[in-house]
Amino acid sequence: MDMQVYLNGEFLPLGEAKISVLDRGFLFGDGVYEVIPVYGGKPLRLTEHLRRLDQSLANIRMQPPLTDEAWSAIFDRLISGTHDQSIYLQVTRGVATKRDHAIPAGVAPTLFAMCTPIAPPPPAGIRAITVEDIRWNRCDIKAITLLANVLLRQQALDTGAAEAILIRDGKVLEGAASNIMIVLGGTLVTPPKGAAILPGITRDLVLELAAAQGVPTEERTIDLSELGQASEIWMTSSTREILPVIELDGKPVGEGKAGPLWAVLQSAYQAYKQMLRESARAG
Ligand code: PDD
Repeated sequence: MDMQVYLNGEFLPLGEAKISVLDRGFLFGDGVYEVIPVYGGKPLRLTEHLRRLDQSLANIRMQPPLTDEAWSAIFDRLISGTHDQSIYLQVTRGVATKRDHAIPAGVAPTLFAMCTPIAPPPPAGIRAITVEDIRWNRCDIKAITLLANVLLRQQALDTGAAEAILIRDGKVLEGAASNIMIVLGGTLVTPPKGAAILPGITRDLVLELAAAQGVPTEERTIDLSELGQASEIWMTSSTREILPVIELDGKPVGEGKAGPLWAVLQSAYQAYKQMLRESARAG
């Protein structure tokens, strides 16, 4: 049986979920989204994800379409079983009567959500390349308009790497679909929030876990030259957790394998997930 998805107030099989070709998400990429990991049937950092959704919506001049309780009730119906999964949710500006860039008045947003299984990320680490960031200047908005991210990720895949690290004006920003953290002299360094990067929920959680482990952290601009000096480089995201980069632009990072600080944070992150699973079981 087709999995059930949510579309505009209804739960229906994926194959029956249809939107109009006049949907502004389809025509203009006019919408925002979230990806929320789920462990033991429980969404990780749900409130934080929903606040980021509100922020993305406000930035594109849209109101929150549902309360947290209403979103939660939808997710509860989409989540099945206790395996690791992720919720994808998307809000577009809805279906206008004609194609026109101007924001239409009085149009109901299109709301879509689905839940799909996620596989554990490769613990051995990945290869990455650095590329010039070709995206726009509002990367803090989690917009569905992802053409640049698609091209940059594919550029990495074409060279046998798994992720592209985006560089703008000589500064290291983030991955095509992840945030970046580097280890410099024992300190975990990550770029500051702002318009140039997505404020990652995993990034914040890893910074918190690092602080709890007594690992010094710093949020500051990273120069491209510092990537070469880093003993460890990690990419973080909701679906790929904390991924060590073991080779950058064809050269090994540190010892060319997942580093010791990664092992510390990886185990803290896995413990956090386990706590979530157990709290779900305890009801
Ligand atoms: N992407 N930066 C970008 C550009 C991203 O697309 C993502 C996540 C992140 C990490 O954010 P978070 O930790 O909140 O997942 C950073 C999601 C997973 C995606 O597009 O599928």
